Amino acid sequence: MTATLIDGVAVSRATREGLAARVAALKAAGVTPGLAVIIVGDNPASRVYVRNKVKACGELGMHSALIEYPESVPAAELLARVQALNADPGIHGILVQLPLPAHLDGAAVLEAIDPAKDVDGFHAVNMGALATGLPGFWPCTPAGVMVMLDHYRVPLQGAEAVVVGRSNIVGKPQALMLLARDATVTICTSKTRDLAAHTRRADVLVVATGRPRMVDGSMIKPGAVVMDVGINRLPDGKLCGDVDFDSARQVAGMITPVPGGVGPMTITMLLANTVLSAERAHKAGRKP
Ligand code: GUN
Repeated sequence: MTATLIDGVAVSRATREGLAARVAALKAAGVTPGLAVIIVGDNPASRVYVRNKVKACGELGMHSALIEYPESVPAAELLARVQALNADPGIHGILVQLPLPAHLDGAAVLEAIDPAKDVDGFHAVNMGALATGLPGFWPCTPAGVMVMLDHYRVPLQGAEAVVVGRSNIVGKPQALMLLARDATVTICTSKTRDLAAHTRRADVLVVATGRPRMVDGSMIKPGAVVMDVGINRLPDGKLCGDVDFDSARQVAGMITPVPGGVGPMTITMLLANTVLSAERAHKAGRKP
């Protein structure tokens, strides 16, 4: 058996078409959704991500502001800028690209963002909203995984879902999203005693460890749906996921490739959160 490929580019395109209609409706009402992206330092990978986020806003007719600081920026200056963006009615989403340089308190910067503009969904208020089922913003990568699972009509209610990785950006919120859909959720970490015993029980397996090809076909239940969140650069320059694609696709029922799987959905969900934020602000009567 060879698994069906879950095409993140196609799901992303379909999602962005829906967003384009919502942007047009907002613009007709005099509101242009706006995203501010802050980057500190010159981490090359972060620079590529940020450039792609700004470009995606333009493609959808949204406003974006790219704010660049040198590595040495004082914390007070960064926090003052976040406060100014919190108060700017033309900005509906604020994103601080991670990682921040070690001299800055990343948690303090993220908590300074108004939760109503926290389109990354990293603020404790939004994590709490996700945990309790209140409206908020969901972190983009795990939210994208949920959209892909729904697009391919993967049944979640009562399913055994296993999430490998417990980061605040992916693993933890992913587990909460699957739980909200009545899956039976297991979270595995790098300290899990017998990882394969858990992954082999999964109907839906999400792998977000940052370790190249750590889950192979022998660890996957036949017919399982495998969502690979990893993007790793190998010494030969090629990209690979956290799942060993060649062996996994012989066993899985559906699988995301890397690249072209989960990756393209992350920016799409950032756009979705920014449009949602603009809609909420418009409904609440906040004028740009
Ligand atoms: N760094 C790696 N992934 C992300 C993300 O989703 N958001 C932000 N702000 N920084 C990141």
